[in-house]
Amino acid sequence: MQILGIESSCDETSASVVEINRGSFNILSNVISSQVKTHAKTGGIVPEVAARLHVKNVLPVIENSLKNANVKIDQIDAIAVCSGPGLISSLMVGVETAKSFALVYKKPLIKVNHIEGHVLAVLEKNKIDYPAVALVVSGGHTQIIHVKEPGKYKLIGQTRDDAAGECFDKAAKIMGLGYPGGPAISIEAAKTRNSKFEIRKTQLPRPMMNSKDFDMSFSGLKTAVLYDWRELEEKGLATPKQRATFAREFQDAVCDVLVSKTLKAVEKYKVKTLILGGGVSANQELQRRFQVEVSDNFPQLKFLYPELSMTGDNAAMIAIAGYYHAKDKDYIDPTKLTADPNWELV
Ligand code: KG4
Ligand code: ZN
Repeated sequence: MQILGIESSCDETSASVVEINRGSFNILSNVISSQVKTHAKTGGIVPEVAARLHVKNVLPVIENSLKNANVKIDQIDAIAVCSGPGLISSLMVGVETAKSFALVYKKPLIKVNHIEGHVLAVLEKNKIDYPAVALVVSGGHTQIIHVKEPGKYKLIGQTRDDAAGECFDKAAKIMGLGYPGGPAISIEAAKTRNSKFEIRKTQLPRPMMNSKDFDMSFSGLKTAVLYDWRELEEKGLATPKQRATFAREFQDAVCDVLVSKTLKAVEKYKVKTLILGGGVSANQELQRRFQVEVSDNFPQLKFLYPELSMTGDNAAMIAIAGYYHAKDKDYIDPTKLTADPNWELV
């Protein structure tokens, strides 16, 4: 079967055609129109601006996804759309467009939770052995999820305040590294790899890292970055070398928390696969840290993270997740679907 996926929950307008053959996924197209350059000017997303750009881009993006896949809309078997969580005004654009397509072209409509998309994005290239633990870590979410099988999820832990990606973005802003902060910080941090940089391991806090539960907190780290960086600036020590060192220390602090909490969950739930998903899963240091830990301490564990193009928001992951709903004929009446900005997966 062929599914048309549509995603517009935040600042990427995306449409994708995914062909599914006996449970294997073939991404025929995955068109992403990113608004990152626009939001870089304001140092963050302005929801009204994001929504306006979604309106402008959604139809050309869908058209291109069909064209790139060499598929006509008549050949599509179902339409999967992300209807939450996310920014209400952004979500509405994708949802209303998907509803119109479903009604006009008489296609079954599937609503997909954005987090479920991030969890299942790895299926593009891999098979998941169940049960699994997924760490979904993005600009809006930081969650550890137990995945019994597609569709059966249990929330194990989550951030009690800021998402890890949001913390990357804020820290980068404080250090004058621009938006989005995650890639900027990882580039800065990588500069420390081959030179004689002095890394102060315990300088920044790792909030809640040793708490007994699986919850996390990143707002204290953000505040520590603000005060420490300000102090360096006041002392005239905020040099390019110091910035790279500081970025590395910050990234290490985030990775320490994410890795230790997630592996604690892996150990407790005795799962077969560890999945990473979401924008922050593009972070190479995070991937490396998990790789080392898994090969040293969990040699039987399958460790999966998405291809770079599937780490951030994209419609292929929505189509993949949509397939499992289509399998169960879990369709929704287009006249009844509404965007749900606070839709919790579990
Ligand atoms: O999943 P995503 O595209 O959108 C949301 O659902 O939020 O994630 C965006 C987040 C941003 O906070 C961005 O700074 C972060 O992912 N990010 C990274 C990296 N690439 C993107 N964080 C750390 N390292 C990266 N390489
Ligand atoms: Zn996302």
